[in-house]
Amino acid sequence: MSSRFVIEGGNPLKGEVHISGAKNSSLAIITAAALAEDGVSVLENVPHDTDVATMCLILRRLGVNLFFDKQGRLHIDGRGLNQHQAPYDLVRKMRASFYTAGVLLTRLGRAEVPLPGGCAIGSRPVDYHIRGFSQMGADVTIEHGFMKASCRKLQGAKVYINRSSVGTTVNLMLAASLADGTTTLENAAKEPEVVDLAIFLNGMGAKIRGAGTDVIRIEGVESLHGIEYSVISDRIEAGTYMLAAAITGGEVTVKNLVLEHLRSPMIKLEEAGIVIEKGVNEVTVSAPNGLRAIDVETSPYPGFPTDLQQPLVAALCLADGTSVIRETIFDRFRYVDELRRMGADVKVERETAIIRGVKQLTGAPVEITDLRAGAALTIAALAAEGRTEIYGIDVIDRGYEHLEEKISALGGCIMREHTTEVTDLFSHIQEVKA
Ligand code: UD1
Repeated sequence: MSSRFVIEGGNPLKGEVHISGAKNSSLAIITAAALAEDGVSVLENVPHDTDVATMCLILRRLGVNLFFDKQGRLHIDGRGLNQHQAPYDLVRKMRASFYTAGVLLTRLGRAEVPLPGGCAIGSRPVDYHIRGFSQMGADVTIEHGFMKASCRKLQGAKVYINRSSVGTTVNLMLAASLADGTTTLENAAKEPEVVDLAIFLNGMGAKIRGAGTDVIRIEGVESLHGIEYSVISDRIEAGTYMLAAAITGGEVTVKNLVLEHLRSPMIKLEEAGIVIEKGVNEVTVSAPNGLRAIDVETSPYPGFPTDLQQPLVAALCLADGTSVIRETIFDRFRYVDELRRMGADVKVERETAIIRGVKQLTGAPVEITDLRAGAALTIAALAAEGRTEIYGIDVIDRGYEHLEEKISALGGCIMREHTTEVTDLFSHIQEVKA
């Protein structure tokens, strides 16, 4: 059954919100935990969103034993990993499931993983991942929609990644951790989630240096072991609540974030007139004088993240003046049609959106096209006059933990109608006590 949000706009968000663990870090780290042939990893701060659930269910089908305990910690025992073919019915839901390729190849010497298809933010190829596996000595073919790769043992190699890619960097780090010899990733992604993965892997016994710079060196080791680890907090969720506070004219303290991870977005938000009082692990955000137009270009970390482009555009719809946003990573402007239904004045020319600020957005029925578009439409609806119905919200559950509970606690008026898959999915992963 599908579900929708019904949002009555106009309430300024006020109070405190606690940011959850990073979805993108969690997906990489959960998969990495399956590399251990010795001991169990226990992960804290893993968000209960459906992408995490999907990754857990895929790993379980590959033989990995895992469950969430009553405290919400995820226990992962990789010793049973024994299936080399990842199931299409689950893999198709999420592109990050391609991370299983690196783990299967390096642990079992064989991986058959469905190629992720196109998605709502355009074509998302995995050619860099595949080239990296080949350079590490794997025989790779594409057959019947699957990448089929095999090797006796992966060999360390020097891999230049054509364009900074988070997914490729993660997948090759996973593969190289148990390879023979040293792998050097040139033009590696520098995102905090890559650094988080490197810290986790090093804790498991890997030898990785340079994560956070564009050259990462991975000296392969014989084996890895399970550890306890706490995932970093989600910088995109934090940025979304900062924008929600600003667009509704409220004042919100966003807690449990890493300020350093949000340096560029905060500079641009301040340029837009948003006041950010900075504490140690928290910020208090308001926009007492409204928003001003700004120009922004998305780019890999430490630049302005593409994942915040959509919530930013939603906020700029109500700014004074004309903003210009250039999206350089993905084809991510389809949701703009839905913002227009709410009265926004946005024109898209190829990879550029030109946003003329309007005085007021008005509630309307709208449809979500992808995860971050969902966040954008939700915050637009919170600021709009009247009632907005947002359809297709299962997509939001992929990456925002307890979204409506958090917004309601801040005084926003949001209701979920019909049922959702979240509870059903997580019931499969709970610890069963005899
Ligand atoms: C990750 C994030 C996603 C974020 C994106 C960019 C996860 C689970 N997802 O996605 O939230 O929006 O980084 O910060 O961490 N490319 C190729 N060939 C490849 C791989 C990538 O052409 O083999 C291109 C992509 O189409 C894109 C660019 O490289 O234009 C960057 O993509 P990448 O960083 O790999 O994105 P993801 O890892 O999929």
